[in-house]
Amino acid sequence: MAFDIEMIKGVYSRMTERVDAAREIVGKPLTLAEKILYNHLWDGNATKAFTRGKDYVDFAPDRIACQDATAQMALLQFMQAGKSKVAVPTTVHCDHLIQAKQGANLDLKRANDVSKEVFDFLASVSNKYGIGFWKPGAGIIHQVVLENYAFPGGMMIGTDSHTVNAGGLGMVAVGVGGADAVDVMAGMAWELKFPKLIGVKLTGKLNGWTSAKDVILKVAGILTVKGGTGAIVEYFGEGAKNLSCTGKGTICNMGAEIGATTSTFGYDASMERYLRATDRNDVANEANKIKEYLTGDAEVYADPEKYFDQVIEINLDTLRPHLNGPFTPDLATPVGELGAKAKENEWPLKVDWGLIGSCTNSSYEDLSRAASIAKQAVDKKLVTKADFGINPGSEQVRYTAERDGILKIFEDLDATIFTNACGPCIGQWDRSDLKGEEKNTIVHSFNRNFSKRADGNPNTHAFVGSPEMVAAIAISGRLDFDPMNDTLINEDGEAVKLDEPKGIELPPLGFDVKDSGYVEPVEDGSNVDVSVSPTSERLQLLTPFQPIGKEINGAKLLIKAFGKCTTDHISMAGPWLRFRGHLDNISNNCLIGAVNAFGKKTNFVKNQLTGEFGGVPDVARAYKAAGVKSVVVGDHNYGEGSSREHAAMEPRHLGVVAVIVKSFARIHETNLKKQGMLGLTFNNEADYDLIQVDDTFNFVDINEFAPEKQLTLELVHNDGTKDVIKLNHTYNQSQIDWYNEGSALNLIKKENAS
Ligand code: F3S
Repeated sequence: MAFDIEMIKGVYSRMTERVDAAREIVGKPLTLAEKILYNHLWDGNATKAFTRGKDYVDFAPDRIACQDATAQMALLQFMQAGKSKVAVPTTVHCDHLIQAKQGANLDLKRANDVSKEVFDFLASVSNKYGIGFWKPGAGIIHQVVLENYAFPGGMMIGTDSHTVNAGGLGMVAVGVGGADAVDVMAGMAWELKFPKLIGVKLTGKLNGWTSAKDVILKVAGILTVKGGTGAIVEYFGEGAKNLSCTGKGTICNMGAEIGATTSTFGYDASMERYLRATDRNDVANEANKIKEYLTGDAEVYADPEKYFDQVIEINLDTLRPHLNGPFTPDLATPVGELGAKAKENEWPLKVDWGLIGSCTNSSYEDLSRAASIAKQAVDKKLVTKADFGINPGSEQVRYTAERDGILKIFEDLDATIFTNACGPCIGQWDRSDLKGEEKNTIVHSFNRNFSKRADGNPNTHAFVGSPEMVAAIAISGRLDFDPMNDTLINEDGEAVKLDEPKGIELPPLGFDVKDSGYVEPVEDGSNVDVSVSPTSERLQLLTPFQPIGKEINGAKLLIKAFGKCTTDHISMAGPWLRFRGHLDNISNNCLIGAVNAFGKKTNFVKNQLTGEFGGVPDVARAYKAAGVKSVVVGDHNYGEGSSREHAAMEPRHLGVVAVIVKSFARIHETNLKKQGMLGLTFNNEADYDLIQVDDTFNFVDINEFAPEKQLTLELVHNDGTKDVIKLNHTYNQSQIDWYNEGSALNLIKKENAS
């Protein structure tokens, strides 16, 4: 199943009618993003114009992609849904769990040993439920998606924030949490707040050292890491047409770094070339039939200020190459100005590593442009000063680049060719050149450069640039090197200048691959066994949550969280990542980062049964073992941050029945509902102050739980006094059904069985 042409034909055949209907209802020309959104409404043709940035809308995505770190819990949940197959085409990609150390062969072998049970689990679940499986070493999820699955005008979701990369092929592709992906896999709708629209008009043509990466480095500098929040960024103009398809992918990929919901480009000749080069003539032929529907309306691009919430214009003729960083991807500096800035800020000028790859910049064109610089180091007798590491984006890219002699150029510079995987981009890098936490500088072609991201060292200053600029800087070994103006001294003592990079958009001999690493699932997976060892510490089959029920009396306060309580406070990442597929083990991080309002310490709460204080998970487990329900209380915007479902599943697993707060972050509130628990808000915010350390909670009218009806809570304090307060909720009837059944998945399973 390289791709599903019938599904794509279906999307295109309804597009003309739905987009025409939407244009009528909205009463104005449409942007590309709007066309794709209106063509993917869950309920069919639009019946109203949605308000951008306000209305929550149900959509029907065409595809789902999951990476190995997030797929574990998503698929464990999906197994609970009682379905025999996923409802929409889905793929799993093993790319995050492979550490870069000695080079592709040894590293891949080691990963296959260390994470064998996780890979085996993902392979067998995929096989059972009709999910395409990409083995470790097959490539980085977003590069593989672009090569095989992305299509103009499509909508996809993926359990990784850089799913947005597929905008390079004209999709609306959005990164989501596992729970959202599971809903869609199980045949439910996907809800999204109708995004705002930012238009980026590109004029001119890239030239010299400037690359597609510099477009997004510049945009990040303009919009900052928050500037795209809640918006789709749509690129258009002559400049957009002059970019390659994978270059467009690079720009969309790093849209995640400005917080954008996603980014996209209209269908054009570069996309058609890419589709044909990646063996998808039929997709290109179909797309050509409805071309004008796969780009924004001409009136929109002629007068963008009228149709976008914000418009930015960038002239590619004059755009300069940038390096962004350190520690944040929006700190944009044109290359020639970086030396002075580095000296001023005491950033180390000596560059230790140049890393090329990641989902952002690992296409054939990227490698060829970087190689055109690397080759000059050999030809011009330059001694490369920094170490080189390369992560090709996919086995197809790697195989083709090897065949065409591109990898050999890097090898001649003693570069380490790592596995076709995320590697250093996700901190999977066993870096041997540092002894401790020395202050140092690296340059890479990735997307993120937060502190510790690549190597765990808070003193590594990472700068993001294009692959060719990374190559030039690595050869010079200097952060202040400006290849457009500076010379380097070669082995013969001569001053030499690097020529401008030359890239090859698509391999002249075509792409080739021996074993792409793809495993097609069997047609009927009913006999496929999914084995999870009961003694595994990394994986655990889920047991369906039991309904909490219509009687909640005598529940004890677990923690009254004080101040900010994000999903990181509720379910930390870092070292806990390895337990993402084991609910019981990862529950040992439940709320350990939250500050207890009583005592202002983290992970230190009172066990009312013993009077002693202990860690949050321990006290919760003690209550659960004693058959006592527990309650979490929180402040404003509780659960902000990531959409990880673990932050709801863990308290649910540990016996928490209700989370009562001043206000919720919306996705976390929904996640609590999906797990069949109560997510409630104080009717009177000041009632937060009534909660005391020894409180017992009686939900006196939970048996009358109904939409738009407040609930009544009796708080019994330690001295026997009581307060009766009102709680608000936003449950609609189907969400109350989730509560009544124990979880959304239980309900799906029940409906499936009937
Ligand atoms: Fe992997 Fe880095 Fe992309 S972690 S998916 S290569 S952002």
